[in-house]
Amino acid sequence: MMFSKKRLIAATALIAVMATGCVMSSSVSEESLGLRKTDLYTENTTAPDKTSYSKAAAGESKVFDRAFENAPPMIPHDVEGMLPITTNNNSCLGCHDPAVASAVGATAIPRSHTFDMRKQTLLTTVSNARFNCTQCHAPQSNNKPLVKNTFSPEFRTQDGMRRSNLLDNLNEGVQ
Ligand code: HEC
Ligand code: HEC
Repeated sequence: MMFSKKRLIAATALIAVMATGCVMSSSVSEESLGLRKTDLYTENTTAPDKTSYSKAAAGESKVFDRAFENAPPMIPHDVEGMLPITTNNNSCLGCHDPAVASAVGATAIPRSHTFDMRKQTLLTTVSNARFNCTQCHAPQSNNKPLVKNTFSPEFRTQDGMRRSNLLDNLNEGVQ
């Protein structure tokens, strides 16, 4: 097969570009890939940062701002000795029950937690669906994020960063 001179020049140029491309990609080290910054051969010794939960006792911690409107608040205090929650022992309610919360300086569980969503009625005690607090509320570990979070929430009420009102606008956009 014969190549015209023009084609031959174009083909040579293409090969040159491809060759440089190869050289460039081989200069990416394994350690620079991914968030761990280690290679696959050190898999066994690669460990994440240790979790570091608040050691401040309930009553001595500082609450976190809510992540977004009606987000479940993070637990700011130590939960040592409070878990697991069992049918007969829910120590969280010992302080967060609306009957005692203000006396101990805790945030009372909101109205959404004493509401039967199926029957659409307010209950006198916490709903069974909300009994297992740590299913939704978690402590926050104090670690440096690997990726900066640039999300910034918008709260429609002035105290939305510190209070929730889910039950009041649960059906927003539906009804
Ligand atoms: C001895 C009382 C006590 C117990 C028991 C307790 N808390 Fe608290 N909790 C508080 C107080 C007081 C605060 C407010 C922050 C502070 O003063 O430490 C608080 C704050 C919180 C907050 C943040 C509220 C907000 O407005 O941001 C959450 C969530 C929470 N607790 C969940 C729990 C869960 C879940 C349990 C059970 C595992 C629990 N707490 C057990 C007293 C208690
Ligand atoms: C199914 C998930 C779920 C469970 C289980 C649950 N919560 Fe919540 N919690 C939420 C969400 C979501 C919010 C914020 C929206 C709302 O309901 O008002 C919230 C809000 C709260 C608040 C803030 C109230 C306010 O006025 O700002 C407290 C305190 C709280 N929960 C404590 C508890 C405790 C104590 C338990 C266990 C008895 C519990 N929660 C169980 C999801 C849950």
